[in-house]
Amino acid sequence: MEPLLEWFGYIITWYIVIRILIIQWLWQSLKYIWIHYLQNHNDHYRKYFQSSRNNWAIITGSTDGIGLAYSQQLAKFGYPLFLISRSMDKLEITKQQLQQQYPQCPEIRIFQFDFSENFESNNYDHLERAIEQLPSIDILINNVGKSYRTAEFFNEISRIEPNFHRSIINVNIVSVFRLTLICLPPICPMPLLSAYSATKSCVDHFTRCICLELREQCPKIIIQSILPGFVATKMSRMSPSITVPSANSYVQSALHTIGHTNRTFVHHLHCLHNKFYQLSNYCFLDFYTRIAYKQMLKLRQKYLRRKEGQKFERIQ
Ligand SMILES: NC(=O)c1ccc[n+]([C@@H]2O[C@H](COP(=O)([O-])OP(=O)(O)OC[C@H]3O[C@@H](n4cnc5c(N)ncnc54)[C@H](OP(=O)(O)O)[C@@H]3O)[C@@H](O)[C@H]2O)c1
Repeated sequence: MEPLLEWFGYIITWYIVIRILIIQWLWQSLKYIWIHYLQNHNDHYRKYFQSSRNNWAIITGSTDGIGLAYSQQLAKFGYPLFLISRSMDKLEITKQQLQQQYPQCPEIRIFQFDFSENFESNNYDHLERAIEQLPSIDILINNVGKSYRTAEFFNEISRIEPNFHRSIINVNIVSVFRLTLICLPPICPMPLLSAYSATKSCVDHFTRCICLELREQCPKIIIQSILPGFVATKMSRMSPSITVPSANSYVQSALHTIGHTNRTFVHHLHCLHNKFYQLSNYCFLDFYTRIAYKQMLKLRQKYLRRKEGQKFERIQ
């Protein structure tokens, strides 16, 4: 009877998921048409890009490609620009060209910086001091990125370029964390668990890529990206319930999925929760995210109150 019920649960879950995906796809397509073809772009720019002499835009990796295109657009809107890249000569040329093309851009400062340096590098402190000189920051474009010269296997690339992995993490992740920390005013609230969830999506993405790489090279190696919702452990500080499985039962179910899928939420309610989350975000303007954020805030306040209480008890 139990396996039958389990199968019934799966079929219902997947039926709902497929229905949700179709609605999601339709909603996204309509939104795409509105954003790119129907709305008045000039009104849109006026609404969102109100530059002034003092409101700066910071762009990393600003001398080429996408970063350069951002610099040109923002110069056109009249923002003062703080451009960061690795090569001084390219920075100077970019500055000169932007000044000539966009006289409405009031000021351009350039800063040479190699983002392959790690989080603790002293040069980040120099960058921080230079950014502190700016009266106010309106826009931060975390654009800088490092990629492969050519498609290459994960283990092979360390042999070709020994520092490759350290450098790609520093450029693609550390730079984003560090620049965001530098630019955010200290009192500005951030959605909670942001660094945690960012690192987890990074691992998910990495696992999916490496899975594809190894599929043909080493078909015997099984790689899975496991995406749990809440599981009752020390980290979540939750007790087991219908939606929060115990670690043991979660792992048992996870083991059942090996060989069937390389990316799984394992628990069908976690999968449903994720699909519901995505759908509600598409259809109801971040409605669910806001509720989740409020809940996280409450959890945080509860934790702080408890901590405060413990401190008080110790003093007594
Ligand atoms: N192009 C694509 O198809 C594509 C697709 C998906 C995502 N992206 C992402 O979009 C972003 C921009 O890509 P893009 O194609 O515009 O790149 P790009 O044309 O190669 O330009 C890279 C820019 O970053 C600077 N840069 C590179 N390494 C740096 C480092 N270690 N420290 C400081 N500055 C550095 C470069 O300046 P210097 O030359 O002076 O070093 C240059 O200004 C990246 O995050 C990339 O991962 C791109």
